Parts: sequence; structure tokens; C-alpha cells
Amino acid sequence: MSLPLPSACAATDANVDTGTDTRGAPAPLRIAIMTDETGWHTGRLKKAFRARRVEARCIDLADCRIDTTWEPHGLVLPGFGHGLPDAVFVRGIAGGTFEQVTLRLGILHALRESGVPVYNDARAIERSVDKSMTSFLLHRHGVPTPATWAGESAAFAQRVLMREAAAGRQVVLKPLFGSQGHGLKRLGSRSTPPRPLAPLPSLKPYSQVAYLQRFIDGGRPGFDWRVLVIGGRAVAAMRRIGGKGWIHNFAQGATCEAAELDAALAQTAVRATEALGLDYAGVDLIPDPRDAARPLVLEVNGVAAWRGLQSVTSIDVAAALADDLLFRKLPAQRGEAAVVALHGRHG
Ligand SMILES: Nc1ncnc2c1ncn2[C@@H]1O[C@H](COP(=O)(O)OP(=O)(O)O)[C@@H](O)[C@H]1O
Ligand SMILES: [Mg+2]
Repeated sequence: MSLPLPSACAATDANVDTGTDTRGAPAPLRIAIMTDETGWHTGRLKKAFRARRVEARCIDLADCRIDTTWEPHGLVLPGFGHGLPDAVFVRGIAGGTFEQVTLRLGILHALRESGVPVYNDARAIERSVDKSMTSFLLHRHGVPTPATWAGESAAFAQRVLMREAAAGRQVVLKPLFGSQGHGLKRLGSRSTPPRPLAPLPSLKPYSQVAYLQRFIDGGRPGFDWRVLVIGGRAVAAMRRIGGKGWIHNFAQGATCEAAELDAALAQTAVRATEALGLDYAGVDLIPDPRDAARPLVLEVNGVAAWRGLQSVTSIDVAAALADDLLFRKLPAQRGEAAVVALHGRHG
């Protein structure tokens, strides 16, 4: 998979080794960072890879192609000629039509099928983007998460709402593919006896899918946790306080502060990440008012941003991600014992 490299990229003994170039020097690894926008995150990633003498190039998945006449792989990635990268870091997949997104994910699947380590893998990203599959897998793996219902029947959703309201509980209606706290609606009343219920809102803005989750009251101002898991280890956590009422996303104005990673929080976040098969993830959790030692997982982000978290942690997140991809994922997939030493050049 390694390609001949221009002399400007000539490797040194500090490089991560993938073979040798024509002069016998090890050729540096080439990583494709899949992203539809370059900015702070891609800048940090490129810097981290550069510090490890690994070439990283940003590519938009929308510019990649399947081409069965393109030998030998049938896959075209801008900047890689007829070759493929040594590994792929998925930083962003732009929204689009169902067909466009299917094709973009298909490129990631095709890369995996061609033996390229994809971080996070497309299968795991698909599971994490679909909130209903996330809920199903969390439940299946015994990871604590609020009760959740997902289906296409508005009548069934209405019955769930009425049943929960009768028990004095509220539910949250979420877009199946939502992010950044957009489109969330809290439904039902907690007054006893329950007030007459407003009918379920139209599911049209929710693409005709009702994803309902039991509302967990965290009081005011309220907070949630974001825990970053990398390579099976919880590496950093923050509390997101306030925001838009009970919605504590950074994008909704929540303020971030460092949080202690106690055993329950760390273990729950790691188990959630494993349940979805992700290499790294940003896991959203809230305290269970019935059991403070048992946080509940709300969401597992497989294409997680970390700017907010980076502002409250001393860990270099991009460096930790680069190390995990280069020194765990890549050798594991290639069946190599190790890659060449980095001579203390870790960023
Ligand atoms: N079931 C719930 N109970 C209480 N708060 C919730 C619930 N679901 C979501 N929230 C709040 O809304 C935020 C966004 O929800 P989340 O499921 O993570 O969707 P998004 O993908 O939009 O971030 C959470 O971080 C939390 O603050
Ligand atoms: Mg979230």
C-alpha cells in the first residue's frame, strides 16, 4: 500500500516504517484525513501526525470515487494516484442525499475491504449516527441508558407518550440522525394527576421516525458529561453545564469544565464505546437521579469533535488519537508486532 514518495518527503529513521523507498530509506506512512471542512481539528491532527513524521492529507469523501477501471484497487482518492493511504482518519462526513451519504460511507467500507485501517470504521460510524441502533446496542450490552422507543408508527409513539405521562414521566423526541442538541423536544407533563396531554407533534420534521427516550431530570442548571474514550481507555471528561434549558450541548451554549473521571464514569463510557465497536468516541452521559454511581449513556459520537474538551484538559487529544491509530489500530490490522520507534518525537 505504500507509494513512492517525492524526495521532499524523504523519510528519516524517526519515521513510522512502512517499507523502504528506492534509496533504502523507510517511506513514511500516508494518512488520509476524511473531512468536508478544514479548520481547528484538522490542523491539530495534521500537526500531531507531522510530529510523528507521518504524512497526513485532508480529503473530502465527496471527491473520492469507485472506478472499477482504476487499477489495481478500483478506488480513487485525490492525491493517492493508483494507490491507497496506509490508514484513514474519519473526521467528518458531510450530509447530503441518502444516495450521496451511502456512497461516501461506501468508500469507507471499500477502504476497509481493501485492507486499509479506517478510524473509526464505517460500520461503527453508521451504528453511532443512528440513535436507535445506538440505544439497541447499549441495551443489548447491558450499558445503562434511559428507556427508548423507536418506530415509524405515530400511533405507537402517542401510546408511549400517554403511558409515560400516566406514570408521571416525560419523554424526549429526537431526530434519528440528530447532533449538537438540534431538534430535541421534551413531551408530556409531570404534574399529578397529569394534565391533558398535547398530541404528539408531527413527525414530518423527524423524517417520519419517532425516536423517544425517557426524560431524566437533572434539575437546574443541570449538566451532562462528555467523556472521550480512545483505544479502550477513557482519557478525559468534562461537565457541560447549562446550555439551552435541559439541553447541555456545547453548541447550545453550555459551559465546559473539567470533570473527574471516576471509575463508574470511565467504565460506562468505555463499555458504550465497545458496544458500538468504535476505536474512539465522545460519550454523552447524565447522572441517574435514582443511583448517583450509575451514569446513564445518552449518545455515543463516532465522529466526535474535541475542541470544548481540549479547552479543559491538559491531554493533547489530537496526539492521543494519532498515537492510537498509529500504534494500536494500524499494527493490529496489519498483524505487525510494532512499527518503528519514534525516538521520543511524540507531540
Ligand atoms: N433522555 C434525556 N434526558 C435528559 N436530558 C437529555 C435526554 N436526552 C438528551 N438530553 C440532553 O440533550 C442533549 C443532547 O442529546 P443527545 O442525545 O446527546 O443528542 P445530540 O446528538 O443532539 O447531542 C444531551 O447532552 C442532554 O443534555
Ligand atoms: Mg450529544
